[in-house]
Parts: sequence; C-alpha cells; structure tokens
Amino acid sequence: MEIIFATHNQNKLIEVQALMPSYIKLISLQDLGFEEDIPETSGTISGNAIQKVEFLKARFDLPIFADDTGLLVDALDGEPGVYSARYAGEQKNSEDNMNLLLEKLTDNNHRVARFVTAIALDLNHSQTLFEGICEGSILKEKKGDKGFGYDPIFQPDGFDQSFAEMSLTEKGAISHRAKALRKLIDYLKEVN
Ligand code: IMP
Repeated sequence: MEIIFATHNQNKLIEVQALMPSYIKLISLQDLGFEEDIPETSGTISGNAIQKVEFLKARFDLPIFADDTGLLVDALDGEPGVYSARYAGEQKNSEDNMNLLLEKLTDNNHRVARFVTAIALDLNHSQTLFEGICEGSILKEKKGDKGFGYDPIFQPDGFDQSFAEMSLTEKGAISHRAKALRKLIDYLKEVN
C-alpha cells in the first residue's frame, strides 16, 4: 500500500523509512512537491498530529499519517511539551532550544524527562491515534552528533548514551516515534 507521511522534516523521514516494512510505500511531501507550511497550533501533541493530517487530507486522496512530538521535563512542569519546536523562539532552532533547556535546569539534579509522540492516521476518511513514550533524563551537556532536535541532551533510561550517540537502528529500537510507529504498522497490517 501507499501512504503519505506528512512531514517536512527529513530526519524524521529517514527514521520512519528505516522502520517501515517493504510492503508499505512511504510517499513524502517532497515526492508530492508539497512545500507549504503545515499548521500545528492546536495546543496539544495529539491535537497537532490530527491538525496536520486534516490539513493534508483535503489535498491528497491517499492514506495519510502525521506525527507530533514533545519533550516533557518533570522539573519544568512538562515544559517544553507542545512548544518543543519553538521553545527558544519562532526560529525553531535546535541549538537554541537545547541551550535554553540546559540553562533552565542549571544546578537542578532532578532531570527526569520523556519524549511523547502522537501519530494520527487518516484512512478511508476515519482517523486513529497512536502514542509512543520514551522515558529518560536530560544530560548536563550535549553529547553526540547524530539524530536531530533534542537528541544530544536526552539519555533514554537504561542506556549510558544520548540519542545523538546512537545509530538509527539503536534509536529505532526504543524511541517514542518508533513505538508509536510500530502500533501504526500493526494496525495497517490488520486492516489490509
Ligand atoms: P515536531 O514533532 O516536529 O513538532 O517536533 C517538536 C520538537 O521536538 C522539534 O524541536 C523537534 O526537533 C523535536 N523532536 C521531535 N522528535 C525528536 C526526536 O526524536 N529527538 C529529538 N528531538 C525531537
């Protein structure tokens, strides 16, 4: 089957492509020549995933899924959460976002955090949501140069490497996005 993944983020596309079984052909927005910004203003992570899918389903007649992710830090009452992409401002710069988070946690030893991903699927005009969570902690400094976003300062529980020190396969075995995606893939297997 063919399915559109509604993202402009090439890093996400690479991660998701690596996890998709070969019988599911992923169509990217780049493949479709679609360059418009997709709104994400709903105020919740799952709401944003649904909003992205709604925005695109009006334009393309194929199954579509979209994801939205937030990093939730306990000591900051769940910040940056739904504002993860623009935590340090509208420029949506990952270095700025990480620096702000590290600054807010200076001298704070309570560094428990989790990534939460919601995936919204629109298939045959009905919608389904899938969620994946990865528990971990915020490091005191950046480590590693792989991945994207907050990866250099997030260490998943049970590992002594940051996400940015892991290979695609290692991150793909435990990440929030991979967990949500595996639920989506299982669902697609059942309905096809
Ligand atoms: P969105 O899902 O693209 O809106 O992501 C929100 C923010 O979280 C952006 O700043 C992303 O860079 C960041 N983010 C999303 N997924 C990941 C991830 O797997 N690792 C690190 N940062 C991520």
